Amino acid sequence: MKSQATIAIPHELVVALQQAKHVVVFTGAGVSAESGIPTFRDALTGLWERFDAEDLATPEAFHREKELVWGWYEWRRMQVLRSQPNPAHIAIAELARQVPRLTVVTQNVDDLHERAGSVDVLHLHGSLDKPICATCGTPHILPPGFSDEPKGGRRLRPPLCTHCGGSVRPGVVWFGESLPEHVLDAAFAAARACDLLFAIGTSGLVQPAARIPVLAIQAGAKVLQVNPTATALDEACTWTLRGAAGAVMPRLLLSAQMMPHAAVRGGQGAADQRGAGPEQGRKAERADCQTEGNRHQHR
Ligand code: OAD
Repeated sequence: MKSQATIAIPHELVVALQQAKHVVVFTGAGVSAESGIPTFRDALTGLWERFDAEDLATPEAFHREKELVWGWYEWRRMQVLRSQPNPAHIAIAELARQVPRLTVVTQNVDDLHERAGSVDVLHLHGSLDKPICATCGTPHILPPGFSDEPKGGRRLRPPLCTHCGGSVRPGVVWFGESLPEHVLDAAFAAARACDLLFAIGTSGLVQPAARIPVLAIQAGAKVLQVNPTATALDEACTWTLRGAAGAVMPRLLLSAQMMPHAAVRGGQGAADQRGAGPEQGRKAERADCQTEGNRHQHR
């Protein structure tokens, strides 16, 4: 990653932020990367190294190998419990105090946005800390505190439902499952109604979540992407800032004079910017493909 000294925040972006009435912040795994939570595709190490994340995050995998899958999610839940929100989460929470309306929509199953101070976060893919019974759907209360998961992970038997005795499963949306309808509807409605959307730390590959920036663009909103690498959203966005979210977001708020007490990390990070003109809508349409209802899938 290059130096933040080169992060150029476009003036038009600052103006758009200062004038925005409703901002949607749409986040993916990259926003939690600087908190030490591996992105979805980087998550498989140790015991799970030889598996594909997309195979393991399925109802079939849980049915076949409950202990392997429950162990993986407990290992990830413990990672999250031990981590802290980073400057990107904090800047997003601060931004909500600076604009008339802000909606956070996340694909992440951690609670780092909430722990940074964001409220009413729309969790498209559920939450690690809200397991349910796989048979009857009853929410299951996990014991508080940490369990000592070995570094390489371990197989763990899932707890049993206190209501029906079925196996408890992680409260997340797996591939092939539908997203919670009211959450998706609220996210789509916010995307259609906002005037500015930030897509932060997402590859834009997972549907139907990846429709969110596209819907915003189609409805006439401007879209900023923050990501250190190229993504499926590059073509459609109004601006792309090529850098780590924890460096770029505080810098952006500072440029818009929206983060008076910001701890902007000194000098590291990188940015690139890209303009979008009348082509934007058409590009957005091209990016909007292979959606199959609410089912969670890759393009
Ligand atoms: P991905 O793992 O597909 O993509 C993460 C993105 O974050 C990549 O584009 C990285 O370049 C970017 N990134 C990495 N470090 C970053 C940083 N410091 N700042 C900004 N960006 C950074 O994750 P998602 O797009 O979130 O669902 O994938 C969506 C879903 O895939 C996940 O929610 C997961 C899986 O289906 C579930 O597990 C339920």
